[in-house]
Amino acid sequence: MLVVEGALNARNQVGIQDFVLLDETSEAAFLSNLKKRFCKDLIYTYIGTLLVSVNPYKELDIYNKEQMDVYMGVNFYELPPHIYALADNAYHGMLADFSNHFILISGESGAGKTEASKKILQYYAVSCPSTALLNTVRDKMLMSNPVLEAFGNAKTLKNDNSSRFGKYMDIQFDSQGDALGGHILNYLLEKSRVVHQNHGERNFHIFYQLLDGGEEDLLQQLGLERDRQHYSYLTQGECAVVPSVDDKKDWKTVKNALQVIDIDAIHTNHLFGIVASVLHLGNVRFEPDSKGHASLNNQNNPNAELHWVSHVRNLHQMSLILSPKKKRLISLQLLGVDANSLQEGLTYRKIEAKTEQVLSPFLLDHAIYGRDALAKAIYGHTFTWLVNRINASTENTVSSFFCQTGQTLCDIVFFFFPFQDPSKKTVIGLLDIYGFEVFNINSFEQFCINYCNEKLQQLFIQLTLKAEQEEYEAEDIEWEPVHFFNNKIICDLVEERHRGIISILDEECLRPGEATDLTFLERLEEQMGTHPHFVSHKLADKKTRRTLERGDFRLLHYAGEVTYCVVGFLDKNNDLLYKNIKDLMCQSKNAIVRQCFSCMDPDSRRRPETVATQFKSSLLKLTEILVAKDAWYIRCLKSNESKKPGQFDEALIRHQIKYLGLMQHLRVRRAGFAYRRKYEVFLQRYKALCPATWPHWRGEPADGVLVLVRHLGYFPNEYKMGSWINHRTKIFIRHPRTLYATEDAFEKCKHQLATRLQAKYKGYRAKGVFRKQKEAATKIETCWRGVQARKERDKRAWAVKVIKRFIKGYMTRGQAKVTDNSEYLVFVRQNYLNRLQDNLPKTLLDKTTWLSPPHVLAETSELLRKLHYRLMVRKYVRGITTQKKTQLQMKLIASAMFKGKKESYPQSVAQPFVDTRISDEDINARVLQMLRNEHIKYAVPMMKYDRNGFKRRPRQLIFTQAAAYMVEEARIKQRILYTALKGISVSNLTDSIVVLHITCEDPKEKGDLVLQCNHLFELVTKLCIIANKQNVVRVLQGSIKVEIQAGKESAVEFSTGPEPMVYKAKNGHLTVVATRARPR
Ligand SMILES: Nc1ncnc2c1ncn2[C@@H]1O[C@H](COP(=O)(O)OP(=O)(O)O)[C@@H](O)[C@H]1O
Ligand SMILES: [Mg+2]
Repeated sequence: MLVVEGALNARNQVGIQDFVLLDETSEAAFLSNLKKRFCKDLIYTYIGTLLVSVNPYKELDIYNKEQMDVYMGVNFYELPPHIYALADNAYHGMLADFSNHFILISGESGAGKTEASKKILQYYAVSCPSTALLNTVRDKMLMSNPVLEAFGNAKTLKNDNSSRFGKYMDIQFDSQGDALGGHILNYLLEKSRVVHQNHGERNFHIFYQLLDGGEEDLLQQLGLERDRQHYSYLTQGECAVVPSVDDKKDWKTVKNALQVIDIDAIHTNHLFGIVASVLHLGNVRFEPDSKGHASLNNQNNPNAELHWVSHVRNLHQMSLILSPKKKRLISLQLLGVDANSLQEGLTYRKIEAKTEQVLSPFLLDHAIYGRDALAKAIYGHTFTWLVNRINASTENTVSSFFCQTGQTLCDIVFFFFPFQDPSKKTVIGLLDIYGFEVFNINSFEQFCINYCNEKLQQLFIQLTLKAEQEEYEAEDIEWEPVHFFNNKIICDLVEERHRGIISILDEECLRPGEATDLTFLERLEEQMGTHPHFVSHKLADKKTRRTLERGDFRLLHYAGEVTYCVVGFLDKNNDLLYKNIKDLMCQSKNAIVRQCFSCMDPDSRRRPETVATQFKSSLLKLTEILVAKDAWYIRCLKSNESKKPGQFDEALIRHQIKYLGLMQHLRVRRAGFAYRRKYEVFLQRYKALCPATWPHWRGEPADGVLVLVRHLGYFPNEYKMGSWINHRTKIFIRHPRTLYATEDAFEKCKHQLATRLQAKYKGYRAKGVFRKQKEAATKIETCWRGVQARKERDKRAWAVKVIKRFIKGYMTRGQAKVTDNSEYLVFVRQNYLNRLQDNLPKTLLDKTTWLSPPHVLAETSELLRKLHYRLMVRKYVRGITTQKKTQLQMKLIASAMFKGKKESYPQSVAQPFVDTRISDEDINARVLQMLRNEHIKYAVPMMKYDRNGFKRRPRQLIFTQAAAYMVEEARIKQRILYTALKGISVSNLTDSIVVLHITCEDPKEKGDLVLQCNHLFELVTKLCIIANKQNVVRVLQGSIKVEIQAGKESAVEFSTGPEPMVYKAKNGHLTVVATRARPR
């Protein structure tokens, strides 16, 4: 019940994909679901594994290569219902357990059986593995179809391309699933069609194809006219044109197909010769002579048709049929028999009486019967010959190929695959047999066809019910049998030995005396009497009788009532051909005809089996073939009678549903358990719903399933477990709703799982990426480290070298410049110079800063040092202003005079000399007036000690160019010419006493001046410069002699003490006490 899951998956789509899951089992619900789907062009629906197909009467885009690919190897339940799904599952089922299968396609005429079988064949052609060799087999199998359809199909009222024969085709596969070959069994061709067609129907397609598509040349050689109206065998149905059939195009297909299936040019010619002969035969007309005996109609060239039929033509130019290479002389045979003999055969009956043969002329009816019988026989045999040729061409070509090369296939395959038995072949059988048929007038053919359908229905009932029941038994499951109509009773009615219709028919055919169709009917009425499925005019009640003719009988088939007209039953069942005609055919020059008739019945005296009996036995054989195989069913339904797309004839379909027993089938399916599944498969699908079974169940699958369903909360009456003690394998679930709930849970869980899986996967991916990146990073790092390490190593090696050289250089630094030390010396030099550059003395006064040079640079260093000092001096000098220069010159003079001589000198050095200590404003105007002719060069305030008594008097001392002036306020107290200045004395101590020695020759003149000035050094220096008297300055120790006036001397005595003091000592000298200078 794999389909259930498929249907579950697609529950939200149109309708329900599997009827088993329909909540209601009413016919209305069934029909409504079918209709719903049909309206959306969903023509396939399942009942379990049975496929219901509704003929859409229009091309649907669901049979392309993409669709095939989609269904290949996919489980039933995973995709919407499709004929490919069924074909694929049959194929894989076959491969999985090396079993034989068959697909039974049933349904009434025009329901789509043949189309379905073609779809399946196409699917296998595309989906099975293939080699060049196998491709040929495949092509042959595919191309056998158009040929068989041309010769075996015809337009009927029900179907424009109705199969008028039954076909069972075996496709053989090897253990690898390769298609090795095919075999066809054909059943009961409706030969009567060759000579008669009902209104609105046609003869077999091939006649029209030949006339429409046949090349001029060919028609000429065959003596045919293009106009089909010309042939009485083609005009009875009065159905000239069928829009859905393109005979011209089909002719080309058929001709090509004949080549593919290995029918050579000669046989092709013969084949067309036969087709032409049948047409010619149909036009042979008889007329009664005076005694009522038949003779050929003389009116219009009586022998013309016969002439053609018996014709042997030598062809020189038949390029249309022959391949150009074979343009040798080939005879185109129609029947290739003697015209006279044929004429005799058609008008006389040969009666063999002991030793002599007597010719007895035919009555008109007999002649016509004989002609038609010949036409039917030729055509019928030719059809069988065709099937045999196709079989010869497709039959296991592969193994015969190997056999030809001297080895059997088995040997070879076994060599390569020792564990597989290569001889093991499996088959899938395709049964496309004419469907149940009801026409206005139903004859022997319909009787056979409908009987065949009864048999198949019987087989279906047996197989499905048996299978179902066996399964429940095998799994020890209790179930209640479903009641259904078993059509065995009808089968028996037809086929029972001695009592069945066929037996009675045969008896009537064989019994001596005047047996007719009507006597047959009487026998039937006698025999069947009260049979519930048999009625005839005589047996019927009043009401029914009205619907029956006297020559009719009615069978209540499983599919409905069919009224058969007994006319022709005996003849058709006998299917007799007059012996002389038969013999004549054995002499035919047409190889096919000769072959067919020679092998017919060597013992001509024994009566051949009747048609019905042959048919019965062949059906029996077919049943045997089928029972041994696993069955798959396709039930085709006709959507409407008018072959129109989009029309859903509810009544018609309801009827088909009924007689095909689809409702019963559905009930049987549901009666027990709607759903069953092998433990493994069930567990596999739903294990995610229970923590104990997810993700893996390690124990027995059956235990796992039990855990799972308990976890899901199934009630005990909702499911049954096949008892696994006896190796039972399945779980059975009673109601679809239980499964729905599970499936819904699964659906939900699937999303969660998907999310989890997605997350896991993403994580996994990310991890992968991260790991890769990390690996890459590590690699790069390693490489980079390697590079770094190598760099480092090189650097070190280089450094070692450098250091070594350095050390060596260092050790030999004192030697003459050699290679060893030259670099070192360069380095040393450079290094020293670089360092020196940063450590140069900043001021001229800094005499200590100078980097001690390495040995080699001692001289250079000295030179540089000097240079540097000179540079600094130069810079310094350039930076000096005129005033500063004057200042410095003055200081220099002061230095020369006092440095190292007077104790207070060092303190004075830092104090700059100024231009003057008294500005002009501070000098009395009168004095300025007096000195206006002399430029005042310097003025300074000071104390003057009187010559007498050394009294201190404040005075201004002004130096002009020529003299120095002692000024007190507005008075110039004394003018001292520089020329009179003979000396300047100071003590060596820190005092600020200056003694100016003045030449004093006249006692009236004032003597030496004793002054005390805070700017002693400035004053003395200025004076010296202005008066140019450097050389008269004395620094004395102890005392300075003072000439107060000419001849009168005193002294200034100097000493040191803690306090500076100036006073007049008792000895009259001026005593100066100075403090000691602070050491600097
Ligand atoms: N699956 C299908 N898709 C389209 N048309 C179909 C399909 N099945 C049948 N038909 C149409 O119905 C016609 C009759 O089908 P056919 O298979 O010959 O019927 P049967 O063999 O049952 O008598 C075909 O010629 C075709 O036009
Ligand atoms: Mg058919």
